[in-house]
This record gives sequence, structure tokens and C-alpha cells, in this order.
Amino acid sequence: MNFKNISISSSKSIRTIYISRQKQLNALNAQTLEELSMCLGQFLEDKDVRGLIITGEGKKSFVAGADIKEFAKYSSNEGLKLSEKGHKTVFDVIYNYPKPIIAAINGYCLGGGLELALACHIRIGSSNALLGLPEVSLGLIPGYGGTQRLPALIGRGRALEMILNGKPITAEQAYEWGLLNHLVDQEDLLDKAQKLAESFSNNSLLAQSHAIAAVNRGLIDPSKGQEEEIKRFGACFQTSDFKEGVGAFLEKRRPDFNNL
Ligand code: CAA
Repeated sequence: MNFKNISISSSKSIRTIYISRQKQLNALNAQTLEELSMCLGQFLEDKDVRGLIITGEGKKSFVAGADIKEFAKYSSNEGLKLSEKGHKTVFDVIYNYPKPIIAAINGYCLGGGLELALACHIRIGSSNALLGLPEVSLGLIPGYGGTQRLPALIGRGRALEMILNGKPITAEQAYEWGLLNHLVDQEDLLDKAQKLAESFSNNSLLAQSHAIAAVNRGLIDPSKGQEEEIKRFGACFQTSDFKEGVGAFLEKRRPDFNNL
């Protein structure tokens, strides 16, 4: 895969995707989103890939938002399309991805950058990270899921405080509020993300994909979450991973699960 604005590294069954527009603090322009979308599609098909890490190139920024220069002259309809396309091709794809995705937040994590991290399943931040939704300072609102996914994670009051004042919070505050799962020194960030991703890969990916879907369904439509869990719990019983997992337990050996 040859991309202009993203780069990839591999370690074991984990792929790390770097957003690589350092001069623009890794702001997400249309091309970066398109490349991210393609890359997600390819890793979905790749049976050797068990999990992904998304991070920003360099030490200063994860992603400083959507590319303001690109949308500066947009009409209302173009703005609507920008948000709609972003949701469909990248942010919802990450949110519903059947393999675990970890955001490794290495600096500015603003606007669309925080929304990218919110779409991931898990967030690890380095101690220099600053996380915020500054869109109202531009006369906008968050357009890549921030108004929905931030309150779901940290509660309505805290989310609205962040959205209404537009000011970033520190990594310590984000960790305290549950926006970050883990807080580490910058030099340990990728190692921590890699180890966490690897720890997931010992388990059944198929079962993990059902778990992600059940959790997401309940968050999107709380009245349907339990029904989704029951349905997917039942579906697991017909999989070879269930036979392997239970068989391994009974035979006192490590399970050897299939990939998706
Ligand atoms: N879009 C486009 N370019 C950006 C950018 C963005 N979101 N963020 C930074 N850049 C560019 C700057 O324009 C600058 O480029 P030039 O050298 O060509 O002028 C370069 O990156 C470096 O940035 P600064 O000189 O501003 O660096 P700094 O250290 O002084 O400040 C910062 C860092 C506080 C993050 C500041 O760059 C900033 O406030 N950036 C914008 C953050 C923002 O508002 N993000 C939300 C975007 S809107 C959005 O995301 C909508 C949505 O929900 C879909």
C-alpha cells in the first residue's frame, strides 16, 4: 500500500497507521480521509491483521482537526456532505470495525482529531496530549461524531462543557474523566498500544467482533442493546471458535482461534 498522507508499520499481527501531515499538525484533509478509508478496507480483508493502532506522525500532534483551509469556503450543502462522507467512509467504519482499534494520542487531539480518537474502541494518551473540540471557536459544531460519542463516553455535562467552551483539556483531566483508558509518557505510548493490541489477539476475533457490535448497538439504541446481545450470544455457539475455546479450556491447553 502506497499512500501520501498516511504511513504504516507492522509488528506481529498489529498494524500501526500514522497520519502523516506533520507540517499541518496531521490535519485531516479529503485525501487523508480517503487513504484512511482504503487502508481500513484492506486491513479488514487481511487475515494476518488482528488489530490496529492509529496515531499521528511526530511528537507534537495526533490530529489537529479537519483541514480548516480545505473547507474554509464551503457552502452549507458542501459542509453537510463533508460531515456525511466522513461519517460513512471513516468514522463509522472505525466505530463499527470488527477488529480492535486503539488510538495512540501523541499531542494535539482537536476537533476531527478527537472525533477520530472517539471512534476508536480504546484511547491511550501521552502526558503531553491536549484534547478538545474547538469547533464553536470557528462558528461550527463538531461534525465527525463529537456531539454523540463524547457525551456517551464522559457524560453530557462534561461533554457540553468541552464543546461549549472549545478549550482543550489536559491528558490528566481526560484520564480522570474516562476519555483516556490509559495515560503514559510519550516515549512509552506506542509500546503500550502495541502490548494492549497484542493482548487482545490471544482471544477469539469473531467473539470480539460480536462484542463490539453488541456494545455499539446498545449505545446507538439503548432499547435494542440487550436483544442484540442475546442474539449474538446465541450465534457464538455455532462457531468453530466456541468449540475451540471451550475445548481448549476442558483439555487444559491454549486455544488456537480462527481469524475473521
Ligand atoms: N487545519 C488546517 N491546518 C492546520 C490545522 C487544521 N485543523 N491545524 C493546524 N494547521 C496548520 C497551521 O495552519 C499551520 O500551517 P502554516 O504553517 O501553513 O500556517 C501549521 O499547521 C502549524 O500550526 P500552528 O502554526 O498554528 O501551530 P501552533 O503550535 O502555533 O498551534 C494549534 C497549534 C493550537 C493546534 C493550532 O494549529 C490550532 O488551533 N489548530 C486548529 C485546531 C482546530 O480548530 N481544529 C478543529 C478543526 S474543525 C473540525 O475538526 C471540524 C469537524 O469536526 C469535522
